[in-house]
Amino acid sequence: MSEKENILSGDPGFNYEEKAPDIDSKEFQKVIDSRRSVRIFDGTPIPDDVVRRCLENGLLAPNSSNLQPWEFYLVKDAAKKKELVRACFSQVAAKRAAELIVAVARTATWRAHAREMFNLFSKLGPGVPKSVLDYYGRLVPLAYAQGPLGILGLVKRVVYFIVGMSRPTLREPVTRAHLRTWAVKTTALAAENIMLSFRAYGFDTCPMEGYDSKRIRKILGLQRDAVVVMVIAAGKRTRGGIYGPRIRYDSNRFIKTV
Ligand SMILES: Cc1cc2nc3c(=O)[nH]c(=O)nc-3n(C[C@H](O)[C@H](O)[C@H](O)COP(=O)(O)O)c2cc1C
Repeated sequence: MSEKENILSGDPGFNYEEKAPDIDSKEFQKVIDSRRSVRIFDGTPIPDDVVRRCLENGLLAPNSSNLQPWEFYLVKDAAKKKELVRACFSQVAAKRAAELIVAVARTATWRAHAREMFNLFSKLGPGVPKSVLDYYGRLVPLAYAQGPLGILGLVKRVVYFIVGMSRPTLREPVTRAHLRTWAVKTTALAAENIMLSFRAYGFDTCPMEGYDSKRIRKILGLQRDAVVVMVIAAGKRTRGGIYGPRIRYDSNRFIKTV
């Protein structure tokens, strides 16, 4: 495969440009610094357009191969909301939230989404590099499929092991657990986009994983492949809603230059 034909190592030859706008980095830093996990909200409703904007911003997060393996459930139905609060062990953040959003990762939508990407690019006509069509038409289906009982994944694991002895090789996903990690990774990035967006629009959030996932699956009628990634409580902070100053360990423990 030549450099040009390989979408990963070569420039596929697109002649597209998006100019980077000027950003007020101080304002951005304020959003990062002031995002705290807020557990008690003051009851102020969040305007629908703000909620929608924040959710849409979630969908702008980077995501693996643009396969968008996520779903976000804004729970408005009063009965469902009550059940969801209970499934979150009646955490105060859930009880006092103006809005509750469930972030869900899907491990079974990638095939349809890859097909959609393929069709989208196919429709653009002859200008689309072959490597792009190959990526969504051939490579993605091969890379993500695990086959019945995970047998294809097992075969791939052996092949990757052998090929990997002589050159850098893809190693995952070769199990359903890898596929779950894959989808959760991307969904968590979107969740962060959502939380930062609420902050930027003057509201606050608390991500929660203290919940009964089985009950949440039932409340939302989720498909078998769905993974509940987190529940996001959103609202306006009130005094006492942040439990204390932010604690982080020395950054040199975690940021390493090698
Ligand atoms: C995936 C995840 C799950 C969390 N689950 C809960 C939770 O169930 N309940 C809660 O009160 N806080 C929860 N938190 C919030 C963390 O406790 C909080 O982010 C952490 O203490 C750091 O504080 P900060 O967010 O204010 O910087 C969760 C955070 C994340 C990222």
